[in-house]
Amino acid sequence: MDLDNVFAYSTPRFVKIRDRRLGMLNTLFKFFIFVYVVVYNVILLMGYKVQGDVVGTARLQPRAPDLKYLRNSSRHRYCMIDGKNRTYTSSDGLIPDLPAFECRYLDTFDTVYPPVEAQALFISTRVNDTLQQLPPNCTDLPRPSCRYETTSVETYFVPGTELVTLLIDHTMSVPSLDFSKSSLDMTGRIEYTNGTEVNPCDAYTRRGYLCPTFANGAGFEITFGTQDAADIIALDTLFQAADVRSLDERAGNIGKFTSETFRYAGIVLIVTVNYDNYFSYDENKVQYILTSKLVPDADFKAEEINPGPGIDETTRRIIDRHGVRIVITQGGKIGRFAVSQLLIVLVTSMGLLAVSSSIVDGVAMNVLKMRHIYAQYRTVTSVDFSDIAAIKQSDLNRFVAEDLVNPRPAIFEQVGQGAGGVTSGEGQPRQMTSAPAPAKQAGYYGGMGPASGLVDEVDDVDSDEGSGTTGTSVRSPEIVAWGENPAAASSAPSVRMKGWKRGFPSSAAV
Ligand SMILES: *[C@@H]1O[C@H](CO)[C@@H](O)[C@H](O)[C@H]1NC(C)=O
Ligand SMILES: *[C@@H]1O[C@H](CO)[C@@H](O)[C@H](O)[C@H]1NC(C)=O
Ligand SMILES: *[C@@H]1O[C@H](CO)[C@@H](O)[C@H](O)[C@H]1NC(C)=O
Ligand SMILES: *[C@@H]1O[C@H](CO)[C@@H](O)[C@H](O)[C@H]1NC(C)=O
Ligand SMILES: *[C@@H]1O[C@H](CO)[C@@H](O)[C@H](O)[C@H]1NC(C)=O
Repeated sequence: MDLDNVFAYSTPRFVKIRDRRLGMLNTLFKFFIFVYVVVYNVILLMGYKVQGDVVGTARLQPRAPDLKYLRNSSRHRYCMIDGKNRTYTSSDGLIPDLPAFECRYLDTFDTVYPPVEAQALFISTRVNDTLQQLPPNCTDLPRPSCRYETTSVETYFVPGTELVTLLIDHTMSVPSLDFSKSSLDMTGRIEYTNGTEVNPCDAYTRRGYLCPTFANGAGFEITFGTQDAADIIALDTLFQAADVRSLDERAGNIGKFTSETFRYAGIVLIVTVNYDNYFSYDENKVQYILTSKLVPDADFKAEEINPGPGIDETTRRIIDRHGVRIVITQGGKIGRFAVSQLLIVLVTSMGLLAVSSSIVDGVAMNVLKMRHIYAQYRTVTSVDFSDIAAIKQSDLNRFVAEDLVNPRPAIFEQVGQGAGGVTSGEGQPRQMTSAPAPAKQAGYYGGMGPASGLVDEVDDVDSDEGSGTTGTSVRSPEIVAWGENPAAASSAPSVRMKGWKRGFPSSAAV
């Protein structure tokens, strides 16, 4: 058993086509693939990060505007003045003759309903305050005729909703990456729907007020996205971000909304906070972007009934509120470096290399002028085996003993014979002169023709190498002589060294 056979290593063989156009094309493709994979996917898009799902908590704490930010109701077009009926036109000019209503300046507790909500908030802008009572001969509701009757309805607007301030206290967490942060530890900004940043102070400055800061004595500060400072903005900033210029615009384009304003019907805003740690190569830096989207043709109302149903209750108050509904959603793209992810990106891109090889192969084999020559270099075609079916068994047996198809460099034959059949492994020196050994090139191309053909081809090969040949031997005379005549050894010293190392006969080594 030959260990070199048992542990033989198999590796593919390549054809090197010496055509600069193909090589350059291949290099060009590889270059672009490198740029795409490494520079774009891995470095710019940070494809080496594994992403996790972002969850978050958000608390919205509203506060009614301070007195100094409230205007006298006579300065609001939608407010009645001293109980006198009047009409106004919507701020976009689309709805004329809207009736004004009484205005009531509610404080924080009266304007927000319900007091606490997770990830959402509702602020009243118009309230129908209805008082109802049971008919006098009903003490409760046992009989079908006992129905509440409305005794009074009051409708009023709540002015100043735009400058209600919101404290947005939010945190984000990526459980799968064991990553979490609070809003105090991140930077952020608010964006218009077109991607430009909104300045939260605009809500005040466009009304002629100073932007509230501690420095100018406001008692709170309008800031958003500053590290170590709570996010406090006015509701109007969320309206601006949703491209709603005023609550007195037409509420929608269909049905009843064509004749109502946002202030009357209510408005629904979806506020999205998107967390992102891909803007910087420091994974611990997270930034958030707040955007606000108007839900078109939607109103919102909440009905509060005081007191609820019960024995001995004969009156009740229904507070039907329309107003600003804010729902917060949180999401984003948070990733962390992971070797496994980097490997996935790199291995996936190997597929691109295969594509590039296919393209270059396609050009070489189908487009270029020399394509048929390239194809012959690439493909080894065997003889047609049905044509040589009549081959003699004794000839076939020779293939069992040795590899006759592939040419063996002549120099190895010489060494193998000297070592007593090391290469053939049969313990019997090979007969160099009697058996026609495979011709170098003919064997490689699968030639199995008559021996004379082999000899001719070998002649050509040998004469190329400049060694004198007789034309009758398949081996160069130099090598044939080497095994038989030690005197010839001096003409090939380098071969002798190799042979000596592998147990060459001592007589030849001298
Ligand atoms: C509000 O307007 C009315 C009428 O214009 C005026 O009499 C009243 O003083 C104003 N109130 C305030 C607080 O400015
Ligand atoms: C205001 O209009 C309502 C209904 O249009 C009417 O009932 C009421 O009497 C009017 N009030 C005044 C003061 O004109
Ligand atoms: C609320 O008030 C308005 C105006 O007075 C009225 O048209 C509407 O029907 C009222 N809605 C309810 C539910 O009472
Ligand atoms: C309550 O009284 C009214 C008139 O006073 C009468 O029409 C009604 O039927 C009475 N309802 C009941 C439940 O007795
Ligand atoms: C984006 O929209 C805002 C408000 O509509 C506007 O002020 C701003 O100029 C716009 N920016 C761009 C780049 O269009």
